[in-house]
Amino acid sequence: MTEPNDKTKSSRRNFLVGAAGLVAGAAAPPALAANSKNLPPNVADWTHQLGDGVGVRAYGNPSKYEKDVVRRTVPWLTATPESSVSFTPLHQLDGIITPNGLCFERHHGGIAEIDPNDYRLMLHGLVDKPLLFTLEDLKRLPRVNRIHFLECAANSGMEWRGAQLNGCQYTHGMVHCVQYTGVPLKFLLEQAGVKAKATWIMAEGGDSAAMNRSIPMSKALDDCLVAYRMNGEMLRPEQGYPVRLVVPGWEGNVWVKWLRRLKVGDQPWYTREETAKYTDLLENGKARKFTFEMDAKSVITSPSPQAPLHQKGFTVISGLAWSGRGKVARVDVSLDGGRNWRAARIDGPVFDKACVRFYADIEWNGEELMLQSRVMDEAGYVQPTKDALRKIRGVNSIYHNNGIATWALKANGEVENVEVG
Ligand code: MTE
Ligand code: CO
Repeated sequence: MTEPNDKTKSSRRNFLVGAAGLVAGAAAPPALAANSKNLPPNVADWTHQLGDGVGVRAYGNPSKYEKDVVRRTVPWLTATPESSVSFTPLHQLDGIITPNGLCFERHHGGIAEIDPNDYRLMLHGLVDKPLLFTLEDLKRLPRVNRIHFLECAANSGMEWRGAQLNGCQYTHGMVHCVQYTGVPLKFLLEQAGVKAKATWIMAEGGDSAAMNRSIPMSKALDDCLVAYRMNGEMLRPEQGYPVRLVVPGWEGNVWVKWLRRLKVGDQPWYTREETAKYTDLLENGKARKFTFEMDAKSVITSPSPQAPLHQKGFTVISGLAWSGRGKVARVDVSLDGGRNWRAARIDGPVFDKACVRFYADIEWNGEELMLQSRVMDEAGYVQPTKDALRKIRGVNSIYHNNGIATWALKANGEVENVEVG
């Protein structure tokens, strides 16, 4: 933890006083667009009348003033909305937990609407006893709670050939982090009795894409979950209601939603999603097979292109970091495009294969900055620059781009997605 120095303290006072440090030409922050009749010493409208009683809002929603905090899409990105993606509004969130309604979505055949009464999970293949579970069966079994990030392998995929999309929602928003409740997959496999020669399992979805992936048995027996709850409530339809596979630290594609079948075998199935797709095409035309782990990655969520600065003075730089290999050990922030680095302050819990929230408190006086963040995980892996990544991987791939992003903060508080060097 770094204590703010005296300079920061005095500037924090300035911040509280009001518009003293307002950036010329920048849009006024919402607080300055106030209606004076609601301001002290007047009694505000909402104090003059009774509010809604309990029960009016049986399932609560965010304040109507927060209606721009939504998932967004990039219409030109995909041919159809059924096989497409919406992005988490990372720039409008804080802490490490993604609210259920804001978790990015990636569907290959639209959202399956499964009647829980008709739901069955089939476990078969190289097992002593094939099993069929109802949702009630799964809910009766021993369960655990785990907080994990899920990142699509294609997150930041548009940035391989240069800075493309202006906003961390679009460049990094194919990630979310929630608490899952579910049954360890190991427990289910033990019930079925896995045959000695079994080395892989195949997970298949019940959606119209029937998306399926092969997963090594060692991972299945390690930390995978058959989950039915997220953040306490049942999974949302978008996230695979009623049951999805949780594969901590591994690319989102293997987290099969609307899970209908687990087949045990002695080799991978080489499905479409692990051959034609989700393989990293290298410079020499060859593709890597099975890049399961998500390498450590971080991004500054504010300020960022969709979250410009409105005020000079005390400023909190905020961001998210995660690693598919374990815990985040450290995050550094640079204000000058990677020449100098300072340790960021991690605040909140640090879980295995989960997002962490980091902050760097700075004094900003309108100078132009090149903001970057860089994460190091407990395995000692350090997030690479985009150029270092390109040297090894070329630019043919769209997957597994965890290079350091750069936001150019301009004198007027606007922020742009750029590249250094
Ligand atoms: N599972 C099924 N059955 N169908 C799908 O289209 N998409 C995969 C994976 N599981 C998918 C699926 C991909 S590519 C990702 S990144 C994650 O689900 C996205 O999970 P989310 O929609 O909960 O963010
Ligand atoms: Co994906």
